[in-house]
Amino acid sequence: MSSEPKGILVVDLGAQYAQLIARRVRETNVWSKITPPALALEAAREMNLGGIILSGGPASVYAEDAPEVPKELLELGVPVLGICYGLQWMVQALGGTVSNASKREFGRTSITVARTTDLFDGVDGRTVVWMSHGDQVEKLPAGFVPYAHSETCPFAAIGQPEKGFFGVQFHPEVTHTVRGRELIQNFVWRVCELPGDWNAGSIIEREIERVHEIVGPQGEVVMGLSGGVDSSVAAVIVHKAIGDRLHCIFVDNGLLRKGERDAVRLLFGDHFHMDLTVVDASERFLERLAGITEPEAKRKIIGHEFVEVFRREAKRFQRADFLGQGTLYPDVIESVAAHGGSTAVIKSHHNVGGLPDDLEMELVEPLRELFKDEVRVIGRHMGLASAVVDRQPFPGPGLAVRCLGEITPERLAVLREADHIVTSEIEAAGAHEGLWQYFAVLLPVRSVGVMGDARTYEEACALRIVQSEDAMTADWVQLPKELLARISNRIINEVRGINRVVLDISTKPPGTIEWE
Ligand code: XMP
Repeated sequence: MSSEPKGILVVDLGAQYAQLIARRVRETNVWSKITPPALALEAAREMNLGGIILSGGPASVYAEDAPEVPKELLELGVPVLGICYGLQWMVQALGGTVSNASKREFGRTSITVARTTDLFDGVDGRTVVWMSHGDQVEKLPAGFVPYAHSETCPFAAIGQPEKGFFGVQFHPEVTHTVRGRELIQNFVWRVCELPGDWNAGSIIEREIERVHEIVGPQGEVVMGLSGGVDSSVAAVIVHKAIGDRLHCIFVDNGLLRKGERDAVRLLFGDHFHMDLTVVDASERFLERLAGITEPEAKRKIIGHEFVEVFRREAKRFQRADFLGQGTLYPDVIESVAAHGGSTAVIKSHHNVGGLPDDLEMELVEPLRELFKDEVRVIGRHMGLASAVVDRQPFPGPGLAVRCLGEITPERLAVLREADHIVTSEIEAAGAHEGLWQYFAVLLPVRSVGVMGDARTYEEACALRIVQSEDAMTADWVQLPKELLARISNRIINEVRGINRVVLDISTKPPGTIEWE
């Protein structure tokens, strides 16, 4: 039995919803983990198991490629909640039947609750849920009773309360299901009887302990610090565990935003007293990027140079056998799922920082069980300022992918000033709350303007201001006209090289958030 808190195992049956389910469980202050079905039994036995949730999935239980779920999961003596495909699989495994529904249900659907106990404790009458299914339960397994029905689905929710087995045809994890959070809470608190005393902060001590165990009393860790929230929080945890045996490397690639390098030095060097090496590699990066305008070529060069610089710097710490990384749980899940066959060896995911396998260092990844929002909670717990914890995402290739066309020190300086005006004005107005990203993009397009009595012929700058949940989709945001006007005026008046400001009103998809 592990030292982990008692929690819920979410078996990922191929839906994009599994991560959402795990997060919803954690939001009820109960620990949760995700596993592919092939590793589910092993994972269930290893963890301190309080209950199981089987996710939805795109397959039909009758399809040849339907994910195989070990039936033993139903014999572990813990409650099980099946969602959509998970429900159908459970019904079939326990002797009921599933068939193609005469009418597909998709989207918001009203259900009527027949039993207001257990899963539906406190949820009565009619309520709106999110449905997405072609198959549905036809005959219940022995001992099961219906809990809710919709117009066309007689078994929208079912249960076998003595065993703690429940199933819902709809998706309680998505926000369109109005009472979804209560249902998940009822499952973990009432049915599984878990106390709801976990929170992201409680993972800090465990992770510090784990870093100790991995690194040992003498080991040293090298870590690339980007100033972003993941690497920052990871570094603070490792530093708490091993102090000066952590060596942080910050690479200035010449593509940073205004003041970024000094801010990192101040926070990690002066404030946290970490052993921090700031490498100024900007000349080298900009030399390699000279004359390159093709976005993918820029990205490749930057990725390659970063590895080279990091490798060279890391060599100076000869005694360091460990590489610290801010890998998050979604990366780990993806990597496990990708290797999740029955004979799978769970491989560590190499972070998007793009360091290659041949560094021959063992990984130390203190955030590998956490979602991004939980990393922020931990960061706050450990005294990282909001400027770090709530920082907007910034791409690895930095300003290079926002400086369209050729990258020159002069154009970067122009972009840096414009971007600083955009961010500082939006933040000063308090308009950054709820925004995912807000930045400037320098366009290699010159247009005519007039300043004073003189003609100008300078480049244009686009404002990219978006809202997003997870960067997979994004919508542009309409800031108050006065704020946009102030940003535009300041850029045109204060930044030599820009005489026109335009607003990007493209959604993602079909656009992307970055321009390159
Ligand atoms: P796109 O432009 O694909 O961006 O809509 C989605 C999100 O990812 C960020 N992004 C990156 N982050 N390395 C990163 O670490 C990269 O190469 C990279 N490219 C884009 C982008 O800022 C947005 O939040």
